[in-house]
Amino acid sequence: MGDSGQRVIIDKAVRLLAPAKRLLVLAGAGLSADAGVPTFRGEGGLWNDHKAEDLATPGGFERDPELVWDWYRERRLHIANCEPHVGQRSIALLQRHFPAATVLIATTNEDDLLERAGVSDVLHLHGALFTTRCSVCAWSGDDHVDNALSLMPCPQCAARVRPGSVWFGESLPKSALDRMHAFHADGCLVIGSSAMVQPAAGIPVDLQSHGHPVVEVNPEETPLSNVVACSLRGSAKVLLPPMIDLLTSSIMREQQSRQG
Ligand code: APR
Repeated sequence: MGDSGQRVIIDKAVRLLAPAKRLLVLAGAGLSADAGVPTFRGEGGLWNDHKAEDLATPGGFERDPELVWDWYRERRLHIANCEPHVGQRSIALLQRHFPAATVLIATTNEDDLLERAGVSDVLHLHGALFTTRCSVCAWSGDDHVDNALSLMPCPQCAARVRPGSVWFGESLPKSALDRMHAFHADGCLVIGSSAMVQPAAGIPVDLQSHGHPVVEVNPEETPLSNVVACSLRGSAKVLLPPMIDLLTSSIMREQQSRQG
């Protein structure tokens, strides 16, 4: 996309999202791709040479917990060595400076790059990579430092511990879904999601069907692309900074105050 063409579609996206009073940002693996974290599908995707049924399902963990833990420790180590990119940092600016509105950032990503980019209160719909939890009772712990918690039985009930991710076939955390629905978003920015995994993929479709503008950022077309109000072809690292600069700019504030 040429610069002028990019500018035009970014302006369209900004005009769609600027009036929102409750803006939902929904981020998929594509948001972390520019920080060096592999996506699941598409070029270089994890599911191209890893079996999801062995590594991200309760059955796979039951069959070979050490194989699953090895994979999760490898991912934890890789992500600990990645740095948030400028697009992720721009989301922190959006959260702080979007005029006269609240911004809820929800992600199906398990990594902690948004937190490390300065975003607070991230809603992890598919769990958190650095959380280790009990496979039986409600115990969970933050295993950021050295995976030590992953090497011992549950301190509460002595059962086997597992990664804190939500696996295929498991339901999303009720608290996260409740918070998402209680937010009553009136605008949505979807970044780097293949829109293949429900129920997360259905959230932007539902918002757009109720007349709330949805903007998509993705280098590729997805099932959302023909549904949403505006779909920008490009990477998060390139498109988010100029878009968010406009959304948080004083010009927007003046325009909004004139609109009342
Ligand atoms: N910027 C923005 N988007 C990108 C970029 C980039 N630099 N690079 C790739 N993408 C897009 C791809 O085009 C694709 O549409 O990111 C998307 C990544 O898709 P997936 O790998 O399927 O990731 P996601 O949609 O988050 O997967 C959902 O599936 O395996 C489960 O639980 C896992 O949370 C994950 C869920």
